[in-house]
Amino acid sequence: EASSSPLTPAAARPETRGTTKLAIVGAGAVGATLAYAALARGAARSVVLTDINRSKVEAEVLDLRHGSMFIPQAEIDGSDDLEICRGADVVAVTAGAKQQPGQSRLDLAEATVSLTRTLLPRLVEVAPDAVFLMVTNPVDVVTYAAQQISGLPHERVLGSGTVLDSSRLRDAVARHCGVAVGNVHANIAGEHGDTEIVLWSSATIAGVPLLDWRPFSDHEPLDAAARQRIAEDVVSSAYRVIAGKGATNYAVGLAATRIIEAILNDEHRVMSVSSRLDDFYGISDVCLSVPSLVDRRGVAETIDTPLSDDEVAGLRASARSMREVQARLGL
Ligand code: LAC
Repeated sequence: EASSSPLTPAAARPETRGTTKLAIVGAGAVGATLAYAALARGAARSVVLTDINRSKVEAEVLDLRHGSMFIPQAEIDGSDDLEICRGADVVAVTAGAKQQPGQSRLDLAEATVSLTRTLLPRLVEVAPDAVFLMVTNPVDVVTYAAQQISGLPHERVLGSGTVLDSSRLRDAVARHCGVAVGNVHANIAGEHGDTEIVLWSSATIAGVPLLDWRPFSDHEPLDAAARQRIAEDVVSSAYRVIAGKGATNYAVGLAATRIIEAILNDEHRVMSVSSRLDDFYGISDVCLSVPSLVDRRGVAETIDTPLSDDEVAGLRASARSMREVQARLGL
């Protein structure tokens, strides 16, 4: 008898379990890592991968299937034909140009928006009821373009945004303060990119406002200089990783997986995903990351997060930067 309790997320109910399908578009470093992370965490009962490079996608699928006995049961499949995405509950788009060493994410905008124009209509045709998670950079502009091109309701088209940056921030603060990363609740907002801002004023460590944190005897204070250094390290993280290994993939694959779980398991989880804002501190018609409620619908709500004057100014500057790119690309 299927559970009818409202406490059981839809995706976890027997009558729906086993039907969740994740389609990943792009089998590059990010797409393949996302597939691996999603399978390892049992995020979906069916994971399919698609890429124009047929031999690559077939090899990735084989390699993933060969690990099947070590992961929660899942169907794993792939193809160079987008038909494989039919009926997906979540479509994660990672396909796009790779950020080269020293290149900014916004430098990729023209190529990836053009690719989005090609991909989205076909993806919406085969997966009309899916929540679309854009991961491709520049993710905020790509999310805006995807929402506009698809014509889907705003909540059903979101971007991985600064969920990854917020993870980098929490890791850095946790290390600086000597606490577990799970004790740090701090978010990055704005562009997933050079204009992103740290929401220090609403951050907490173990329930203590971060700005009031008293350091342990053997740790440095989290003073303005330390916070500035951490903020700069977070914003420059991707450049450092790309310079060293050619791409980032692990953390962004895990971040996207966590967002996908929040959607498929109807978690009502607050995450700093990118979505089209509607009068958030007066900001509209642009996709940026702010703390938002993520559930089976996609991005259901933004959270009325208290922001300092500096944070509001930073968010508005981020919005201006996105709008300039949107205008240049005719979005
Ligand atoms: C990064 C890429 C995903 O920040 O933009 O690692």
